[in-house]
Amino acid sequence: MSEKAAVIEAPGGPEQLKLVDVDVGAPGPGEIRIRHEACGLNYIDVYHRNGTYPLPLPARLGMEGAGVVEAVGEGVTHLKAGDRAAYASNPPGAYSTARVMPAKAVLKLPDGIAFETAAAMMLKGLTVQYLLRKTLPQGGLQAGDHVLFHAAAGGVGLIACQWAKALGLQLIGTAGSDEKCALALENGASHAINYRRDKDFAAKVREITGGRGVKVVYDSVGADTWEGSLNSLAPFGLLASFGGASGPVPPVNIGTLAAKGSLYVTRPTLFTHIATLESAQAMGDELFAVVGSGQVKIRIDKRYALGDVTQAHRDLEARLLTGSAVLLP
Ligand SMILES: NC(=O)c1ccc[n+]([C@@H]2O[C@H](COP(=O)([O-])OP(=O)(O)OC[C@H]3O[C@@H](n4cnc5c(N)ncnc54)[C@H](OP(=O)(O)O)[C@@H]3O)[C@@H](O)[C@H]2O)c1
Repeated sequence: MSEKAAVIEAPGGPEQLKLVDVDVGAPGPGEIRIRHEACGLNYIDVYHRNGTYPLPLPARLGMEGAGVVEAVGEGVTHLKAGDRAAYASNPPGAYSTARVMPAKAVLKLPDGIAFETAAAMMLKGLTVQYLLRKTLPQGGLQAGDHVLFHAAAGGVGLIACQWAKALGLQLIGTAGSDEKCALALENGASHAINYRRDKDFAAKVREITGGRGVKVVYDSVGADTWEGSLNSLAPFGLLASFGGASGPVPPVNIGTLAAKGSLYVTRPTLFTHIATLESAQAMGDELFAVVGSGQVKIRIDKRYALGDVTQAHRDLEARLLTGSAVLLP
């Protein structure tokens, strides 16, 4: 049976995305075939589409989905046909009705978590897990500590606000409008800064922290926030640069890190953290637990038909979205 998938023939704007008929085939060794009930929309899909992260062409897009396993290949033991499952995974291809993919990052979905919720939380929630739980400054984080988290009203951001609160942290969130700031606060941020208006957000961070600065900044905005993020850190602080929604971080003069107080910088990616099933499962179990307990609520602010994926990309890049968005095949 022919299935549908969104592909690009060349890198470029949202108009490059086209829905085409594809043959999906049977899973090979270590693979599964999954029928999607919902697919996630993520900023990494923009980097794939516009060539910031180049893909072999023509390329399918989409890194996050949820649905029902239809078949498993040789050697796959943690899933079987009929299982409800969800994933954040390479290679791209989640913008589709069904696909064959590596099984190692596909997790069995607890009954209490709906498909749409799962498609809205796997990539973003596993990212927050590795950031707040594993990407830590020297000495770790203690309850009451301040952290700075940019784009706090976005998909990753709203999960981070809630998870940080559950951990007893004071998350200072930045966002691009007063409405987005209000949303971050409603979701557990202790403070919010509109960084489009208050361009010197580092000064605000100093005010909030009594001049000390924060132990860690989680920065997915990149070019526009890099300097301010460094200026927001306490001595020995950590800058975790995990994305570049405003463009890539400019070349760094490493001496700056000494001048600003023996700072640390890391550039992590989820895909190192979920490289093995054991690691993906352990991280997934934590995510399922905080969502299952209600400590983290997954907010789906927008649903698009899979055929409207072009509009979804336009809205994401225009900073019109808050929380998570899903594509429905
Ligand atoms: N390294 C990893 O492992 C990893 C994993 C997942 C996600 N990420 C990164 O985390 C970030 C958040 O991902 P997401 O999918 O949840 O997206 P998102 O936060 O829902 O959307 C991106 C947000 O970035 C902000 N932004 C600031 N400057 C921007 C600009 N010039 N153009 C567009 N947006 C701008 C906007 O919020 P405001 O209007 O509030 O500024 C926008 O809503 C992305 O940068 C993504 O690449 C990294």
